[in-house]
Amino acid sequence: MGRVDGKVALITGGAMGMGESHSLLLAREGAKVVVTDIDNEAGEATAQQIRDEGGDALFIHHDVASEEQWQSVIDQAVEAYGKVDILINNAGIVILKPNEETTVEDWDITMAVNSTGVFLGCKTVVPAMEKAGGGSIVNISSIYGIIGAPNAAAYQASKGAVRMLTKSCAVDYAQFNIRVNSIHPGVIRTPILGDMVNDEAAIKQALATTILERMAEPIEVSYAVLLLASDESSYMTGSELVVDGGYTTV
Ligand SMILES: NC(=O)c1ccc[n+]([C@@H]2O[C@H](COP(=O)([O-])OP(=O)(O)OC[C@H]3O[C@@H](n4cnc5c(N)ncnc54)[C@H](O)[C@@H]3O)[C@@H](O)[C@H]2O)c1
Repeated sequence: MGRVDGKVALITGGAMGMGESHSLLLAREGAKVVVTDIDNEAGEATAQQIRDEGGDALFIHHDVASEEQWQSVIDQAVEAYGKVDILINNAGIVILKPNEETTVEDWDITMAVNSTGVFLGCKTVVPAMEKAGGGSIVNISSIYGIIGAPNAAAYQASKGAVRMLTKSCAVDYAQFNIRVNSIHPGVIRTPILGDMVNDEAAIKQALATTILERMAEPIEVSYAVLLLASDESSYMTGSELVVDGGYTTV
């Protein structure tokens, strides 16, 4: 038995990095998966890999900052699979600059993808989940939505917004049997880190307070996503699950 057998899961930013990993794991655990992303080639490749492994998946082009595209994506998911039980709001971007160097354009695009994208996802999926009798929304924030760090002003503000939006939605949607939780990853080996993965000094600094003294692989966050997506977490809502190797502990 898969841990999410019979469920339909929609994962944004599913083309690469953690979104790809979440998509593959949820499919392996029995979900039908709707992979969405702005990167058509890599997104289609994730869906194809799921199908190659015997799973059921569909890729849809999707800019999470677009309200119009959100409605179309939910409609297509329901048309293809009849319902949506799980939404993983994973798509995100980072622009590393201190606040005084952050332009209004940097701020606006970061907020549009990381915060507005999650707001629109939570808002648009609710009628479909309500119709399905309930669901689970997992919003990917960051440890930088909880604690401070250098050179990440817009990113931190956008991830802090996700943390509180999650709690607000958990309160509003409990009446529909929809649970809403956030995940706060630490330093995870994905393309978002760019050249930093090869820069020993930068990695050392990023991991300075990580008590497990290493980066995580995407799958180590995917298992937390799976827990919150599945009925195993039936009494968890509005919670913030930190997956950071102890970064925020000391
Ligand atoms: N990697 C880390 O260390 C880390 C730590 C904490 C939180 N996060 C968060 O985890 C999430 C996944 O990050 P990742 O590390 O896998 O990054 P990644 O860059 O590897 O993947 C992000 C995905 O989002 C997609 N995307 C970007 N803009 C989009 C848009 N407007 N609409 C739809 N898709 C879009 C990209 O094409 C890509 O496939 C992000 O929200 C990120 O902020 C990452």
